[in-house]
Amino acid sequence: MTPLHEVIINKKTNVKPIWIMRQAGRYLPEFREIRKENPNFVELCLNHKLSSQITLQPINRFDLDAAIIFSDILMLPYGLNQKVEFKKNFGPVLGDLNISLMSKIDEIDFVKKIYPVYKAIKIVSSKMNLENKNTIGFVGAPWTLLVYMINQQSPKKNVKKNFFKDEYLINRVLLLIEKFLKIHIKNQIENGANVIQIFDSWAGLLEERDYPNYIYTPTLNLVDYVRSLNVPVICFPREIKNYKEFCEIVKPDAVNIDYNVDPFMISKNLKIPVQGGLDPKILLTDQENLKKEVLKYLDIFKDHPYVFNLGHGILPETNPEMVKFLINIVRDH
Ligand code: CP3
Repeated sequence: MTPLHEVIINKKTNVKPIWIMRQAGRYLPEFREIRKENPNFVELCLNHKLSSQITLQPINRFDLDAAIIFSDILMLPYGLNQKVEFKKNFGPVLGDLNISLMSKIDEIDFVKKIYPVYKAIKIVSSKMNLENKNTIGFVGAPWTLLVYMINQQSPKKNVKKNFFKDEYLINRVLLLIEKFLKIHIKNQIENGANVIQIFDSWAGLLEERDYPNYIYTPTLNLVDYVRSLNVPVICFPREIKNYKEFCEIVKPDAVNIDYNVDPFMISKNLKIPVQGGLDPKILLTDQENLKKEVLKYLDIFKDHPYVFNLGHGILPETNPEMVKFLINIVRDH
C-alpha cells in the first residue's frame, strides 16, 4: 500500500507522507520554461503530453509521495462550454453562462471536450504505480464552481451583490455541476487517479446558515459518490468556520486545513486524518524559521494520521531549494 493510502485509509500514524498543493507550477523554472512557449493555459491543460510532463516535474525533482494532475478546477465549466480564460496578473475570466444551452450538453460531449486530462492521468498513474506513489485527481467543490460560473472571476472579499438574485438559476446550475462533477470524477478514477481531492476554496465566503445548502449537502453527495467507487476522498473547505462540524457531517476520509486554524485544536477535535496547514509564506522566509514551523506541525500531529502539505497553494516566488529543505525535514523526522 502507498504511504498516502496507509494514512488516509488505514489511519497509520508512523508514516508522514508529503505532497504540496500547486506542486506543479510557476515556482519551478522547468514549468516556466514550458509555460513561456504556451501562453494559453487551458490549451496547455489539454495537451496531454505536456500536462503529464508538467505533473511529473516535481516528482522527478523531489521525493514526493503523490502527483496531482496538472489541470484546473475550471476545466469543468470549460467542458460545459462556458468560456474560460486565464489573464496574466488577473486570474481566471469566464464567459456568460447560458443555462439552457448548458442543459443540452451530455456526458459524451463533455468527456470529448476535456479528454486529454484523462489521457494525462493515465500516463502519470502508470509511472506512479510503479513507484508505489499516488495519483491525485481533483475537482472544485460545487459551491466554489458555482462562484466562478456565476461571478465569472475570482471573488474579491465577497461575491457580487446580486449573486443569489435568481434562485432558480442557482439551483439549476448547482444540479448541473453535481452531475458533471460525478462524470469528471469517474473518468479520472477510471484512468488511474487513486485519491480524489475536493477543493472548496471559497467556503469561507458563506454565512454559516448557508453551509447546509451550498456546502454540506452537495459535498456529501460527492463524497458518497467517490466512496462508492472505492477511492478515498480528501476535502479542503478552505476557511470554513467549523472544520469539526464539516467533518462530522460530510465525513471525508481526510481533511486539508488552512493556515488560519490552530493545528493544536484541530488535532484535539478532529477524529479523521488531517492534511496540510503550513502557511506557504513560511517558505519565503529562512531555513531556520521553516524548520521551526515544520517541526511544530510534525510535533502536534505526531500521534495523528497526518499528511504533510501546505494550508494553500505554494507561492510562485518560492525558491525550489526551500521546498527541498522542507521535504528533507519531513523525511528525516
Ligand atoms: O500542482 C497542482 O496543484 C495541480 C494543478 C492545479 C492548478 N489549479 C493549476 C493551476 C490545481 C489543483 C488547481 C486548483 C484550483 N484552480 C483551485 C483550487 C485551489 C486554490 O488555489 O484555491 C482554484 C480556485 C483554481 C482556479 C484558478 N486557477 C485560479 C484562481 C488561478 C489563478 C491564480 C494563480 O495562481 O495564478 C488559476 C491558474 C492556475 N491553475 C495556475 C496553475 C499552475 C497558474 C497558471 C499560470 O501558469 O499562469
